[in-house]
Amino acid sequence: MSKIIKIFFSPSQTTRKVVEQLASNFDGDGETYDLLNFNSEKEFEREDIAIVGMPVFAGRIPKSGRERLSKMKGENTKAIAIANYGNAHVTDALLELVTLLKENNFDVIAAATTVSHHSIFDGVAVGRPDSSDIEKINEFALKCLEKIESNESLTSQIPGNEEYTPYKQLPFEISCDEGICSFCYDCVSICPEKAIPDDDPISTNLNLCSRCTACINICPEDARSFSGDAFETKKPAFEKANSERKEPEFYL
Ligand SMILES: Cc1cc2nc3c(=O)[nH]c(=O)nc-3n(C[C@H](O)[C@H](O)[C@H](O)COP(=O)(O)O)c2cc1C
Ligand code: SF4
Ligand code: SF4
Repeated sequence: MSKIIKIFFSPSQTTRKVVEQLASNFDGDGETYDLLNFNSEKEFEREDIAIVGMPVFAGRIPKSGRERLSKMKGENTKAIAIANYGNAHVTDALLELVTLLKENNFDVIAAATTVSHHSIFDGVAVGRPDSSDIEKINEFALKCLEKIESNESLTSQIPGNEEYTPYKQLPFEISCDEGICSFCYDCVSICPEKAIPDDDPISTNLNLCSRCTACINICPEDARSFSGDAFETKKPAFEKANSERKEPEFYL
């Protein structure tokens, strides 16, 4: 019996939601690897089916997500790759994800770009994935099941450049409101870059920080947020430029 393996790096939880939606169409026992918490070597079996989701960060998959996923190897294990983005641009992220999975001995059978609420600019893609996205994800799952049944690999060309766009660190600040922080240290534990000092959750080392949003999302007090002139200036222009709805794309 195949095991359904859910793998995702999902600082603000929408990539997790997309992976779980797709996986809900498959029968069988499951295992979940949340790469914000799981950072170890792992080998999967030939019969397993991996559903792997990564958000798009400045046209790439996140560097930490990539490093953690790189420790996972298949045995010609079937995989479905999803690059989940905030209605702006996917650039090279899906190609990067598919290529990495193939290098790690996964048999990629299908891939998708899905659209979710933008985790930095919260006026973009509000409420997504919505019911229309979910319907399309479910239709895609049925096509994936047919491909698994007939043992077919991915044949579609994935858009993107083989020389991936360079990593980019965004100039936005992340601040913490000392007056409402309850010093639970959840942000310290979740931060994949160790950018929040163990003894001082009010600070953020912006040189280490990837702006991934995990600390903002996990904070029970809503104490952490994007801030600063660069962010406030960029927000309205970015939200206007990316207001037109984009649709998920599927590759079989
Ligand atoms: C650092 C960073 C960079 C991002 N870059 C892009 C991008 O290049 N294109 C895009 O459409 N969305 C971009 N986004 C938005 C995310 O891809 C999108 O909100 C995604 O749903 C986040 O996934 P998560 O909820 O699993 O964290 C970026 C978000 C972050 C935090
Ligand atoms: S401090 Fe930066 S890298 Fe760490 S969780 Fe927060 S946004 Fe992500
Ligand atoms: S998660 Fe929020 S409340 Fe908890 S230590 Fe961090 S900033 Fe403070």
